[in-house]
Amino acid sequence: MQSTRSLSLVILVGALASCFAISYDNKVALANDYTLYWTLNNDTIYFKTETKATGWVGIGISEKGYMAPKSDVAVLFIAPKGNGTVFDAWTLAHAQPPFDTDLKDNTGKKGTNDWLLTSANEVGGLSTFEFNRKLNTGDSFDRVIDPTAQTKLIWAYNLDSKPYKDFWGYWKFNEHDNMDSTTIVFKK
Ligand code: HEM
Repeated sequence: MQSTRSLSLVILVGALASCFAISYDNKVALANDYTLYWTLNNDTIYFKTETKATGWVGIGISEKGYMAPKSDVAVLFIAPKGNGTVFDAWTLAHAQPPFDTDLKDNTGKKGTNDWLLTSANEVGGLSTFEFNRKLNTGDSFDRVIDPTAQTKLIWAYNLDSKPYKDFWGYWKFNEHDNMDSTTIVFKK
Protein backbone atom coordinates (compact mmCIF):
# COMPACT_ATOMS: atom_id res chain seq x y z
CA MET A 1 0.00 0.00 0.00
CA GLN A 2 2.82 2.32 1.06
CA SER A 3 4.74 1.59 -2.16
CA THR A 4 1.61 2.20 -4.31
CA ARG A 5 1.21 5.61 -2.63
CA SER A 6 4.91 6.45 -3.20
CA LEU A 7 4.63 5.42 -6.84
CA SER A 8 1.53 7.61 -7.31
CA LEU A 9 3.38 10.52 -5.74
CA VAL A 10 6.37 10.05 -8.06
CA ILE A 11 4.04 9.91 -11.09
CA LEU A 12 2.18 13.02 -9.90
CA VAL A 13 5.42 14.98 -9.35
CA GLY A 14 6.69 13.84 -12.78
CA ALA A 15 3.44 14.88 -14.45
CA LEU A 16 3.48 18.29 -12.72
CA ALA A 17 7.14 18.82 -13.70
CA SER A 18 6.36 18.07 -17.34
CA CYS A 19 3.37 20.50 -17.23
CA PHE A 20 5.74 23.28 -16.17
CA ALA A 21 8.60 22.24 -18.49
CA ILE A 22 9.81 25.07 -20.68
CA SER A 23 10.03 24.51 -24.39
CA TYR A 24 13.03 26.29 -25.83
CA ASP A 25 12.74 28.24 -29.09
CA ASN A 26 16.42 28.18 -30.01
CA LYS A 27 19.33 25.77 -29.98
CA VAL A 28 23.02 25.87 -30.89
CA ALA A 29 25.74 23.20 -30.69
CA LEU A 30 28.60 25.04 -28.98
CA ALA A 31 30.69 21.86 -29.38
CA ASN A 32 30.01 18.20 -30.19
CA ASP A 33 29.43 17.60 -26.50
CA TYR A 34 27.80 20.90 -25.45
CA THR A 35 24.38 22.08 -26.66
CA LEU A 36 22.78 25.34 -25.56
CA TYR A 37 19.03 26.03 -25.76
CA TRP A 38 17.41 29.35 -24.97
CA THR A 39 14.15 31.19 -25.03
CA LEU A 40 13.23 34.80 -24.25
CA ASN A 41 10.23 35.93 -22.27
CA ASN A 42 9.80 39.66 -21.56
CA ASP A 43 12.77 40.73 -19.45
CA THR A 44 14.14 37.24 -18.78
CA ILE A 45 16.28 34.78 -20.72
CA TYR A 46 15.87 31.05 -20.04
CA PHE A 47 18.72 28.66 -20.82
CA LYS A 48 19.18 24.91 -20.91
CA THR A 49 22.60 23.29 -21.33
CA GLU A 50 23.34 19.65 -22.16
CA THR A 51 26.99 18.74 -21.74
CA LYS A 52 28.86 15.46 -21.75
CA ALA A 53 30.77 16.40 -18.64
CA THR A 54 30.29 15.80 -14.93
CA GLY A 55 32.80 18.28 -13.47
CA TRP A 56 31.38 21.78 -14.04
CA VAL A 57 29.75 23.62 -16.95
CA GLY A 58 30.27 27.32 -17.65
CA ILE A 59 28.55 29.86 -19.86
CA GLY A 60 29.29 33.55 -19.97
CA ILE A 61 28.90 36.90 -21.61
CA SER A 62 32.09 38.59 -22.63
CA GLU A 63 33.09 41.89 -24.14
CA LYS A 64 35.36 40.51 -26.85
CA GLY A 65 35.02 36.74 -26.64
CA TYR A 66 37.88 36.30 -24.18
CA MET A 67 37.55 34.80 -20.76
CA ALA A 68 39.06 37.78 -18.98
CA PRO A 69 38.84 40.39 -17.79
CA LYS A 70 35.25 41.39 -16.95
CA SER A 71 33.30 38.46 -18.34
CA ASP A 72 30.02 37.62 -16.68
CA VAL A 73 30.00 33.86 -16.14
CA ALA A 74 27.73 31.23 -14.65
CA VAL A 75 29.38 28.06 -13.36
CA LEU A 76 27.05 25.11 -12.79
CA PHE A 77 27.61 21.74 -11.22
CA ILE A 78 25.89 18.83 -9.54
CA ALA A 79 27.20 17.81 -6.14
CA PRO A 80 27.81 14.09 -5.47
CA LYS A 81 24.52 13.97 -3.51
CA GLY A 82 22.66 15.22 -6.58
CA ASN A 83 21.87 18.83 -5.71
CA GLY A 84 22.58 21.38 -8.44
CA THR A 85 24.32 24.71 -7.85
CA VAL A 86 24.94 27.80 -9.94
CA PHE A 87 27.65 30.36 -9.14
CA ASP A 88 27.33 33.86 -10.55
CA ALA A 89 30.93 34.93 -11.14
CA TRP A 90 32.96 37.74 -12.74
CA THR A 91 36.33 37.15 -14.32
CA LEU A 92 39.34 39.24 -13.38
CA ALA A 93 42.06 37.12 -15.01
CA HIS A 94 42.69 33.72 -16.57
CA ALA A 95 42.10 32.10 -13.20
CA GLN A 96 39.16 30.93 -11.09
CA PRO A 97 36.71 33.85 -11.20
CA PRO A 98 35.44 35.35 -7.92
CA PHE A 99 31.72 35.11 -7.15
CA ASP A 100 29.72 38.33 -7.59
CA THR A 101 28.62 38.08 -3.95
CA ASP A 102 32.28 38.41 -2.87
CA LEU A 103 32.81 41.61 -4.88
CA LYS A 104 31.98 45.27 -4.18
CA ASP A 105 31.69 48.05 -6.76
CA ASN A 106 33.29 51.48 -6.24
CA THR A 107 30.28 52.69 -4.24
CA GLY A 108 30.69 49.78 -1.84
CA LYS A 109 27.63 47.93 -3.19
CA LYS A 110 28.01 44.15 -3.08
CA GLY A 111 27.43 41.99 -6.15
CA THR A 112 24.46 39.67 -6.20
CA ASN A 113 23.70 36.15 -7.35
CA ASP A 114 21.35 36.67 -10.28
CA TRP A 115 21.07 33.25 -11.89
CA LEU A 116 18.11 31.10 -10.89
CA LEU A 117 18.71 27.39 -11.35
CA THR A 118 15.45 25.53 -11.94
CA SER A 119 16.67 22.02 -12.70
CA ALA A 120 19.87 20.00 -12.71
CA ASN A 121 20.49 16.38 -13.48
CA GLU A 122 23.28 14.05 -14.45
CA VAL A 123 22.48 10.83 -16.30
CA GLY A 124 25.06 8.56 -17.92
CA GLY A 125 27.70 11.29 -18.00
CA LEU A 126 25.34 13.92 -19.52
CA SER A 127 24.67 16.96 -17.33
CA THR A 128 21.56 19.03 -18.00
CA PHE A 129 20.89 22.41 -16.36
CA GLU A 130 17.98 24.82 -16.72
CA PHE A 131 18.49 28.34 -15.44
CA ASN A 132 17.40 31.86 -16.11
CA ARG A 133 18.37 35.47 -15.55
CA LYS A 134 16.98 38.96 -16.09
CA LEU A 135 18.41 40.55 -19.23
CA ASN A 136 19.39 43.52 -17.08
CA THR A 137 20.07 42.45 -13.50
CA GLY A 138 21.23 45.85 -12.27
CA ASP A 139 24.36 44.23 -10.80
CA SER A 140 27.70 45.87 -11.73
CA PHE A 141 29.21 42.39 -11.98
CA ASP A 142 26.78 41.24 -14.69
CA ARG A 143 26.67 42.31 -18.32
CA VAL A 144 23.38 43.59 -19.73
CA ILE A 145 22.09 41.20 -22.40
CA ASP A 146 20.68 43.05 -25.40
CA PRO A 147 18.83 40.25 -27.23
CA THR A 148 18.86 42.13 -30.54
CA ALA A 149 22.62 42.76 -30.54
CA GLN A 150 25.49 40.39 -31.28
CA THR A 151 26.49 38.89 -27.94
CA LYS A 152 29.93 37.36 -27.44
CA LEU A 153 29.23 34.17 -25.58
CA ILE A 154 31.99 32.17 -23.90
CA TRP A 155 31.66 28.60 -22.69
CA ALA A 156 33.78 26.05 -20.90
CA TYR A 157 33.53 22.78 -19.04
CA ASN A 158 35.54 20.50 -16.87
CA LEU A 159 35.06 16.83 -17.76
CA ASP A 160 35.07 15.20 -14.35
CA SER A 161 36.41 17.23 -11.46
CA LYS A 162 33.66 18.79 -9.37
CA PRO A 163 33.97 22.04 -7.42
CA TYR A 164 34.78 21.47 -3.75
CA LYS A 165 35.21 23.49 -0.57
CA ASP A 166 38.77 23.87 0.63
CA PHE A 167 39.93 23.65 4.26
CA TRP A 168 38.78 27.26 4.94
CA GLY A 169 35.38 26.74 3.33
CA TYR A 170 36.12 28.54 0.04
CA TRP A 171 34.81 27.03 -3.17
CA LYS A 172 37.52 25.86 -5.56
CA PHE A 173 37.21 24.52 -9.05
CA ASN A 174 39.77 23.28 -11.50
CA GLU A 175 40.42 24.72 -14.96
CA HIS A 176 38.38 23.73 -18.00
CA ASP A 177 39.17 20.80 -20.29
CA ASN A 178 37.49 22.55 -23.20
CA MET A 179 36.45 26.16 -23.85
CA ASP A 180 35.72 28.57 -26.69
CA SER A 181 33.59 31.53 -27.70
CA THR A 182 30.92 32.28 -30.28
CA THR A 183 28.64 35.15 -31.29
CA ILE A 184 24.86 34.89 -30.91
CA VAL A 185 21.93 37.21 -31.52
CA PHE A 186 19.47 35.82 -28.96
CA LYS A 187 16.35 37.30 -30.54
CA LYS A 188 15.82 35.50 -33.85
C1 HEM B 1 39.01 27.65 -12.34
C2 HEM B 1 38.46 28.36 -13.31
C3 HEM B 1 39.20 28.77 -14.55
C4 HEM B 1 40.55 28.82 -14.81
C5 HEM B 1 41.69 28.47 -13.88
C6 HEM B 1 40.71 29.28 -16.18
C7 HEM B 1 41.92 29.48 -16.81
C8 HEM B 1 42.10 29.85 -18.12
C9 HEM B 1 43.38 30.03 -18.78
C10 HEM B 1 44.74 29.86 -18.11
C11 HEM B 1 43.12 30.39 -20.07
C12 HEM B 1 44.15 30.74 -21.16
C13 HEM B 1 44.18 29.70 -22.22
C14 HEM B 1 44.62 28.37 -21.71
O1 HEM B 1 45.79 28.25 -21.33
O2 HEM B 1 43.81 27.41 -21.59
C15 HEM B 1 41.68 30.40 -20.24
C16 HEM B 1 41.03 30.68 -21.41
C17 HEM B 1 39.67 30.69 -21.57
N1 HEM B 1 38.73 30.46 -20.59
FE1 HEM B 1 39.09 30.01 -18.66
N2 HEM B 1 39.47 29.48 -16.73
C18 HEM B 1 38.52 29.20 -15.76
C19 HEM B 1 37.15 29.32 -15.89
C20 HEM B 1 36.49 29.67 -17.05
C21 HEM B 1 35.07 29.80 -17.18
C22 HEM B 1 34.06 29.62 -16.04
C23 HEM B 1 34.82 30.12 -18.49
C24 HEM B 1 33.51 30.39 -19.21
C25 HEM B 1 32.33 30.29 -18.71
C26 HEM B 1 36.10 30.18 -19.17
C27 HEM B 1 36.27 30.46 -20.53
C28 HEM B 1 37.48 30.56 -21.16
C29 HEM B 1 37.61 30.86 -22.58
C30 HEM B 1 36.48 31.07 -23.57
C31 HEM B 1 38.99 30.94 -22.84
C32 HEM B 1 39.66 31.23 -24.21
C33 HEM B 1 39.70 32.71 -24.51
C34 HEM B 1 40.71 33.40 -23.67
O3 HEM B 1 41.91 33.07 -23.78
O4 HEM B 1 40.33 34.27 -22.88
N3 HEM B 1 37.08 29.93 -18.26
N4 HEM B 1 41.09 30.09 -19.03
